[in-house]
Amino acid sequence: MPHEVRGVIAAAKGDKVKVGSVLVPDPGPSEALVRVQACGVCHTDLHYREGAINDEFPFLLGHEASGIVEQVGDGVSNVEPGDFVIIAWRAPCGTCRSCVRGRPWYCFASKNAQQPMTLADGTALSPALGIGALAELTLVDSIQAVKVNRDAGPEIAGLVGCGIMAGLGAAINTGGVSRGDSVAVFGCGGVGDAAIAGSHLAGAHTIIAVDIDDRKLEWAKDFGATHVINSSETDPIKAIRDLTGGNGVNVAIEAVGNPVTYEQAFYSRDHAGTVVLVGVPSPDMKIELPLLEIFGRGGALKSSWYGDCLPSRDFSLYIDLYLQGRLPLDKFVSETIALDDVEEAFAKMERGEVLRSVVTF
Ligand SMILES: NC(=O)c1ccc[n+]([C@@H]2O[C@H](COP(=O)([O-])OP(=O)(O)OC[C@H]3O[C@@H](n4cnc5c(N)ncnc54)[C@H](O)[C@@H]3O)[C@@H](O)[C@H]2O)c1
Ligand SMILES: [Zn+2]
Ligand SMILES: [Zn+2]
Repeated sequence: MPHEVRGVIAAAKGDKVKVGSVLVPDPGPSEALVRVQACGVCHTDLHYREGAINDEFPFLLGHEASGIVEQVGDGVSNVEPGDFVIIAWRAPCGTCRSCVRGRPWYCFASKNAQQPMTLADGTALSPALGIGALAELTLVDSIQAVKVNRDAGPEIAGLVGCGIMAGLGAAINTGGVSRGDSVAVFGCGGVGDAAIAGSHLAGAHTIIAVDIDDRKLEWAKDFGATHVINSSETDPIKAIRDLTGGNGVNVAIEAVGNPVTYEQAFYSRDHAGTVVLVGVPSPDMKIELPLLEIFGRGGALKSSWYGDCLPSRDFSLYIDLYLQGRLPLDKFVSETIALDDVEEAFAKMERGEVLRSVVTF
């Protein structure tokens, strides 16, 4: 028997989201049914509701979640009912061309539940990033459910499922930030601040936070920014060069998803440095760069998908570092809200009032 629960639905491009009834099937083979305890509101959810990801409406939003495994289907051995898990939007398949090359963090056929969650009339929902966790229950592939220490609490653990992991990984995995490096991070929302925290953890010497909002720059200092630049008042490229002996940074991380900030990141790095794009652009965005500059500056221009993480390796690691007092993950939780407040949370995000609003159940 399917379970009827409340979930946040984006019905059509640009429409405000609404809480409606969602039918969630019992888990089939290799699936897990998870009772969601907390789910963050990420900018990517807003991209979905604006139609900037794809047109497969209606969406069931939510993809930064933790919860308790309620039921598992046949053949599931990695989790059992009662386990506290973070839900991942990457569950490596083990057999695609990337997995067999030994690069499961790029898995091209990541696993999701086989059965759809639906509206009451049977219309299949597209779960955001293959999760759909702004709902009381969600159905995922069991490999998406990653067991972690429950002492971290549901709100913080949920955020590790997307924004925190994306930012930490953009710095540590994709950017390869290491001891003594200089780093600039463009955009200090949840993802950018996690990139700052990751750079700090990796031992970066200089960490420059760039944003257009002074509140965000204040918060960025809490995560390890050594310098801040308000790029609506100051030319960030010149300011970053000035802070780095005229050279630019070793790693420049773009966490907005915008051609203007990407270009700033491109010109802010030192020769042979790395640019990491973790912000998600919309389909209409274009950028023009002199090919000679791309050649002449050398180094690497990389994109970071989910911080190039391996959830089975990384989620527990960062939860444990938090519990040891070495990573201030609690500072990402700006407020806890109810399921009915997601539209207001989008507005607060756009006004720059929060790092993360987290729905608790
Ligand atoms: N690659 C991934 O795997 C991945 C995962 C999660 C989120 N994301 C993306 O990362 C981006 C950031 O997400 P978030 O949740 O932190 O968003 P957010 O809205 O919380 O933060 C965005 C920040 O960018 C700042 N900003 C906006 N315009 C700017 C400009 N011109 N110059 C400097 N700063 C500017 C804002 O003030 C804000 O602080 C989004 O595009 C999101 O979709 C990517
Ligand atoms: Zn997200
Ligand atoms: Zn794979």
